[in-house]
Amino acid sequence: MEQNQIARRMDFIAPFYVMDLLARAKELEAEGRSIIHMEVGEPDFDTPQLIIDEAKKGLDLGFTGYTPAAGIPPLREKIRDHYRNTFDVEVKASRIMITPGSSGALQLVMGVLVNPGESVLMTDPGYPCNKHFVAAVNGVAKPLPVGPDTAYQLSAELIEKHWDDTTRAAMVATPSNPTGTLLSKQELSDIYDVVRGKGGMLIVDEIYQGLVYGRKPFSALSVTDNIIVINSFSKYFTMTGWRLGWLVAPEHYIEAIDRLAQNIFISSTASSQFAALKAFDPECIEVLEKRREEFCKRRDFLLPALSELGFKFPVVPEGAFYLYGDCSELTDDSFSFAYDLLEQEGVAITPGKDFGSNKHEHHVRFAYTTEIDMMQEAVARIRRFLGK
Ligand SMILES: Cc1ncc(COP(=O)(O)O)c(C=O)c1O
Repeated sequence: MEQNQIARRMDFIAPFYVMDLLARAKELEAEGRSIIHMEVGEPDFDTPQLIIDEAKKGLDLGFTGYTPAAGIPPLREKIRDHYRNTFDVEVKASRIMITPGSSGALQLVMGVLVNPGESVLMTDPGYPCNKHFVAAVNGVAKPLPVGPDTAYQLSAELIEKHWDDTTRAAMVATPSNPTGTLLSKQELSDIYDVVRGKGGMLIVDEIYQGLVYGRKPFSALSVTDNIIVINSFSKYFTMTGWRLGWLVAPEHYIEAIDRLAQNIFISSTASSQFAALKAFDPECIEVLEKRREEFCKRRDFLLPALSELGFKFPVVPEGAFYLYGDCSELTDDSFSFAYDLLEQEGVAITPGKDFGSNKHEHHVRFAYTTEIDMMQEAVARIRRFLGK
């Protein structure tokens, strides 16, 4: 043993490469350069005022202590009502756990599901932290290369093919990060059938659920109760910094999840929970729905504009706020491409490397978390960068 040793599991936990790019973007900005940010997966809208006002009220009322690890009962009940009213799904409040973001939920889920050495299937490209949540509990992440043929999602066939004796769970996200693509109810149902047939657990990340364009969103809970669903106030509700999310699990897992939450987090932030009680109010949803329409307009602007420049989008993204562009006709090194674009033209995008190793050098992600006039300028700059 060496005094300065760092545990081996950290060898499996990679940084966000985009953070270096973001740091460079900030440096350039500090030098007075104009930078257009399309790299960060965070809505550019502020939290609705109604929620902010409620947080202030909560603080004045002394809502500053620990809460139950599972979250305050009225918020669990609000989420129950949300499933009932929006998705026509009945979920008992006792199956809903409030968590510090969906990141907190994912840690808890991996903690109660995965034994050391057991594996979890997921997409490549996918949300980078998923691999690391598994590594943190000494599990083995198994990213499966996916492409346009399955809308960059896992399929029942892929899961059937790659499931082995070590596999404990399969994980999907709909809409997905980085591709913005969705699973249909039928596809989810087929995936569920395979996973249950193998005796494993299906984890469905619905963090971008409210941000779906041109289709009516549904919850995987309308397919079956017997899965774990992850959600968050971060994206649709534009509350990233409040660190608040939730999970829904079969009753059987709740006691263990609660026990782990008590130990790891004690509770989610009290004032955030208090404020989130307002998040489902019609007044608030009205504001958020306008923003959803704005995101849809942005996608409808950016997708054809980038296609015209030579980026390819073989599957139209119908959700989240990302476009995952195939840039193989423009470069064989998306990492340098992203850095050169930043240095030369001040447009910040995320290289594919952040989302896995499957053809990452031929992909970049654009986040349309900036206004259309800024994106028009970004497109003009990219055109110049490409010499078109
Ligand atoms: C697919 C997906 N899941 C989970 C998260 C974690 O979000 P949070 O912890 O803010 O809820 C993110 C954040 O970008 C994400 O894209």
